[in-house]
Amino acid sequence: MLSYQHTYHAGNHADVLKHVILGDVLAGMFNKDTPLFMLDAFASRGIYDLNSAEALKNREFDTGIGKLWPLRFYKHPEGVARWFKLIASANTDGTFSRFPGSTALLHDMCRDFDRLSACDLHPQEFDSLRQAFQASRRFNLLKRDAFEALKALLPPKEKRGLIFLDPSYEVKEEYRGIAKAVIDAHHRFATGVYVIWYPLLPANRHNDLLNDLKRSGIRKILRLELDCGDAFPDMQMSGSGMLIINPPWHAEQAMKASLDWICEQLTEGKGRKQFNWLVAE
Ligand SMILES: C[S@@+](CC[C@H](N)C(=O)[O-])C[C@H]1O[C@@H](n2cnc3c(N)ncnc32)[C@H](O)[C@@H]1O
Repeated sequence: MLSYQHTYHAGNHADVLKHVILGDVLAGMFNKDTPLFMLDAFASRGIYDLNSAEALKNREFDTGIGKLWPLRFYKHPEGVARWFKLIASANTDGTFSRFPGSTALLHDMCRDFDRLSACDLHPQEFDSLRQAFQASRRFNLLKRDAFEALKALLPPKEKRGLIFLDPSYEVKEEYRGIAKAVIDAHHRFATGVYVIWYPLLPANRHNDLLNDLKRSGIRKILRLELDCGDAFPDMQMSGSGMLIINPPWHAEQAMKASLDWICEQLTEGKGRKQFNWLVAE
């Protein structure tokens, strides 16, 4: 398939949620000084150009970073502050055009003794990813199918890992495909922290993913969602959600504070949010 290019959507409301929460989860795993493995299974290009024709086509970033960037000097939760700092560090020339994606976030937060792998199958996205990070020795960049990578790379030798799954859901079967891949991976690496992003679209296919995981027997699945449909009625994707399997308990308060702040600032009170257990302990 692979017609999807994330640059068209970079910086939108869903990217805000996914990157801030991903950072909160990872920060919560840093409470131990032992090495971590991180897998960005659907990495895309790492850094997006918000001045590109693709990003400017629908200006989706106006529903996300475009709206929040002017607030960067005010008080905000730790996860949001970390994310603003990352964006500022990608734009040191004073302009605001480079938007760091999930791989840039993981790369920035990763400690010297941690290990990172990032996969993308799309030839153009992968070339850009390689250009952005080839100098980094901590990085294993793979032009490889994410589903195969999950089988090959888990369990990691570190025995501690964060697995980020952010597919493009180009075909409706992918929701169940992701659930199956997570269930398989969890059999091999039950203590891993899995972070799964999903869109809220009119067809509500994300329920396939949620229902399959609910029935799987996996415990400790936290669900958070932000529906911004009333704030951005023209967006087909009204919002997005994340499932976090085995969330570090240190991260729960941080994630809640980030979600509350993002909802308030992005939607001016019109957003609908959820923060609850899909499956409790
Ligand atoms: C939503 S984008 C990722 C965005 C990125 N995680 C971020 O936050 O900056 C999904 C990416 O997955 C890639 N992709 C789709 N199917 C794949 C597969 N089976 N294996 C590896 N990459 C895949 C696409 O090329 C696309 O770049």
